[in-house]
Amino acid sequence: MKGLYKFTVPIPIVFDSTGLGRLKDVLGELGMSRPLIVADRNIRQAGFVDTALELLEVHGDASRVFDGVSSNPREDEVLRCLELFRNAEADSLIAIGGGSVIDAAKAVRFLAAHDPPITDHDHRQPSGTRVLRDLPGMIAVPTTAGSGSEVSRGALITTKRGDVIRKTLIAHYRLVPSAAIVDSSLTYRCPMRIAYGCAMDILTHLIEELSSPVFHPIVSGVAAQALPRVAEYLPLLPDHEQDPNVRAELSLASLMAGMGFEKGLGVVHSLSHAIGALVDAHHGLLNAAILPHAIRFNRAHCPVGTGRILAAGVGLDATSDAQGLDALAAWVDALVSRLGIPPRLRDLGVPEDRENEIVSRALEDHCHLTNPRPCGEREMRQLFQAAW
Ligand SMILES: [Fe+2]
Repeated sequence: MKGLYKFTVPIPIVFDSTGLGRLKDVLGELGMSRPLIVADRNIRQAGFVDTALELLEVHGDASRVFDGVSSNPREDEVLRCLELFRNAEADSLIAIGGGSVIDAAKAVRFLAAHDPPITDHDHRQPSGTRVLRDLPGMIAVPTTAGSGSEVSRGALITTKRGDVIRKTLIAHYRLVPSAAIVDSSLTYRCPMRIAYGCAMDILTHLIEELSSPVFHPIVSGVAAQALPRVAEYLPLLPDHEQDPNVRAELSLASLMAGMGFEKGLGVVHSLSHAIGALVDAHHGLLNAAILPHAIRFNRAHCPVGTGRILAAGVGLDATSDAQGLDALAAWVDALVSRLGIPPRLRDLGVPEDRENEIVSRALEDHCHLTNPRPCGEREMRQLFQAAW
C-alpha cells in the first residue's frame, strides 16, 4: 500500500444550528479568555459581531473587533489586524465570516508569533511555511457554506511587491483553527448570489479532490459522502432559501470538502487564485465559470474510475468514465444556468488582456500540482481561453 501524503487529525467541531450560542464555552474549553474578533463589514452589519460580543459579555468593546477584511484578503489588512490584536492584548482570535475572514485570521495568528513579511513564509518556497513558535488560539465560525477554511491548514493572502501582485500561501497543520463552530443559521444573511458562488466552491472542491491522483482513502471517503449532499441540496437552494435542512446539508458538505483538501485540489483553483489576486471577483463564482471546462480539459487524464464515481455522486448513470465526465460537465453547465451564475470569466469582469499575467500566476499556484492532467503554459492558456 502507498503511504499517505498527509493527514491532519480533525479539531473540535460544534456542528449545530444554534452553535454560536456555545462560543463562550468553546473559548473556555480552549483556555482562551481575551479574543479579538475578526470579521468584515457585511458580517458586522448582519449583527453577528454584536451577538458574539454579547455572548462573550464584552458588549460595546470596539477594541475587540477588526472588521476590515476584504473578499480577497490583503497583506495590509492582515498587518492592521495584527496591530489591533497586539494593542488589545488579545490572547486569541475568533474569525466570524467566510473563507477570506478565516484566512486573514490564520495569517494574523501566524504573524503574531513569526516575523513579517508574510512572503518570507510562503509555502511554495523550498523550506515551506515553518511554524517555530506557539500560535495564539483561534476559533473559526464560518458564515458561508463554501470555503472549508474552518478545518484546513492553508491561508491565501494577496501580496504586492512593486507591480507584482500574487497570492501568498501559508500552510501548516498547526494553522488549522483550534476549534470550529459551524452554525448553518449564520448562512441565511449571505446574499444569494454569493451563497450560490460559495456552494459552487464546495462542488469544485469535491470534484477536484476526487479527481486528484493523490492516494488518500480517508479523505476520499469523506469527499465521496459529501458530493451527493451538494448535488441534492444545492439545486434546491433557489426555491428553499429559508429551509434549515438545505442550509445545514450545505454547511456539512462544506466542512467535509474542507477536510478533503488533504488530497489536493486542481487546475480550477490555480486559475481562480491567480484571477482573484488581480480582479476582485468572488472565488466561488470564478470556480463555477471554470469548472465545466476543467472537467472536459481533464477528461482523458483522470484516474481510472473517477468518471463513474463523480457521475454516481451527483446522481447520474455512467456507462464509462469518459461518458460519466461528459455527463458531469453537462450537469454542471445546467446547474450554473439554473442558479443564474455568469457562465463565463468575461462576465465576471476578468479582462482578456491580462491572460499572460493570469496564466503565469496560475502556473506558480500549488493546486494544479495535484491536477490529473499535468499543466504547462500551453495547457493553462487553453483552459483560460475556454472559460473566458
Ligand atoms: Fe475554493
